[in-house]
Amino acid sequence: MSEPVWQRGDLLGVAELSAAEILHVLDTAESFVEVAARPIKKVPTLRGKTVVNLFFEPSTRTSSSFEIAEKRLSADNINFSTSGSSLSKGETLLDTARNLEAMAPDIVVIRHAHPRVPHALAERLDSAGVINAGDGAHEHPTQALLDAFTIRRRKGRVEGLKVAIVGDVAHSRVVRSNVLCLTKLGADVTVAGPRTMMPEEPEALGARVAYSLEEAIEGADVAMMLRVQLERQARASFPSEREYFDFFGLTAERLRGAADDALVMHPGPMNRGIEIASDVADGPWSVILEQVANGVAVRMAVLYLLAGVRGGADGTAP
Ligand code: NCD
Repeated sequence: MSEPVWQRGDLLGVAELSAAEILHVLDTAESFVEVAARPIKKVPTLRGKTVVNLFFEPSTRTSSSFEIAEKRLSADNINFSTSGSSLSKGETLLDTARNLEAMAPDIVVIRHAHPRVPHALAERLDSAGVINAGDGAHEHPTQALLDAFTIRRRKGRVEGLKVAIVGDVAHSRVVRSNVLCLTKLGADVTVAGPRTMMPEEPEALGARVAYSLEEAIEGADVAMMLRVQLERQARASFPSEREYFDFFGLTAERLRGAADDALVMHPGPMNRGIEIASDVADGPWSVILEQVANGVAVRMAVLYLLAGVRGGADGTAP
């Protein structure tokens, strides 16, 4: 018998995933999509499992997406967010990890402002799986997986597509995970942004680099816009919101340079009128809300696969 494709007990980044593993997550997610259309949106897959959601950074979309995914899989879940918990009282990560371990969770979902905190937690926690829900400007693997899933559902493939990822590249974990994921699947990826919002060595991302929106989206099948990360000192990187929009905001006019059936994507939350015009965000090209819906199915798939490796998921696929 051949080895199972998925053998990981943690999901820390796209960097370590092979194309076969990525495709396995996407294929698994397909079977979870229809759960959302059922009158009773619940399968017993993670019954009796405990999932802890640890959000050290604000989050609405990602934390609620994980929470819904966990509930639809029948897991018991609890949420710690920074405000109102000991996470904001200076407890060290090591102490948090020890205390968590004492509660015997099966999976811990963590978002943190510093890169590689999920990796450090995974090293500490032997008995629980760790999912990185965003670590600083480093990785956001489930976002990239749901983006690839959304593209594949719409276009039937990822391989050979031209994808432009535009905006605050320097501060974005979404771009890092997406470049890794989409190039592993054979897409042709270009990143673009103002020079002040590009990393020191943008080529190191592993994508083509452009410095204008027009150049990046020329003939593109997908235009993925990045949020200007105002909380990560991005404000100092451009003179005014107006000027940013004038050069890097996606408008219907600029979108004409892309392929006729181009998809418009954004991980949310959007700054309307800064990186994207409202009519484009709400327009026929936009799959932004599909990304949100697909996020639940993809996170269900990841939770299911991790729990399967960790042992004891009752194995009932939907
Ligand atoms: C992204 C994040 O937090 O990295 N959002 C998300 O997960 N929905 C993108 C962002 O905040 O710009």
